[in-house]
Amino acid sequence: MDPIVDEVARAIERVDVEALRRTYVEQDEFVYIERWLPPALVARLVADVDRVRPAIHRNYIPRHKKGGSVSAYTLVAQAPAIVALYRSPAFLEFLARLTGARLQRCPATDPHACALYFYTEPGDHIGFHYDTSYYRSARYTVLVGLVERSSSRLVCQLHRGLPGRTPVEVSLRTDPGTFILFNGDRLWHAITPLGAGEERVSLTLEFVTDPRMTPLKRFVSNMKDSIAYFGFRSVFGERARRPAALPR
Ligand SMILES: [Fe+2]
Repeated sequence: MDPIVDEVARAIERVDVEALRRTYVEQDEFVYIERWLPPALVARLVADVDRVRPAIHRNYIPRHKKGGSVSAYTLVAQAPAIVALYRSPAFLEFLARLTGARLQRCPATDPHACALYFYTEPGDHIGFHYDTSYYRSARYTVLVGLVERSSSRLVCQLHRGLPGRTPVEVSLRTDPGTFILFNGDRLWHAITPLGAGEERVSLTLEFVTDPRMTPLKRFVSNMKDSIAYFGFRSVFGERARRPAALPR
């Protein structure tokens, strides 16, 4: 068995899944475990991070986001540990139990299926947003902290928009190995600006219950990914048309 798959399975054994599931529900489909993944596993993920640094695509949308991204297409080719985590059957089952949903990995055509986000220059950030699903179903985001040498915080507003509920703000450091899971249509969240001389790198893994997307929404999603994340060449280029098989 791949050591990553083995280590993930052992990390899951240490979790009280039912208790975590209750917290997930109480927090309106949001939960986290600080420094959950063991250092040896994180070290292999960070080795992938360093390998793909030449492929970082920087983007800047005034008043909304600034930072760097590496798409699933590059990770499939160059980041074996990250892909092993994404493809781990035990991990998928763990997430399905926490969410209570029949989760699947995103299609290989989705550059966001697994992706790295680099905050490396002063002011790198992303403003408040939902991880809106363009699929026919909800989309669930897993965020894993990999490099955390920053004053940036993941700021989340739980229960936003729920009648009769006052939003609760949570501010988190995403230390290496920290695991965060949420329903992208429900969690209003942001990353606060990076300070000088700081660095923050996080991994996101996306899951859906229905992987279908209308052609129009696929186009809109690809345009958004090109402009805001990975660049037109990555999203619409040769590799995107023939990506390596991602979900298995
Ligand atoms: Fe997000």
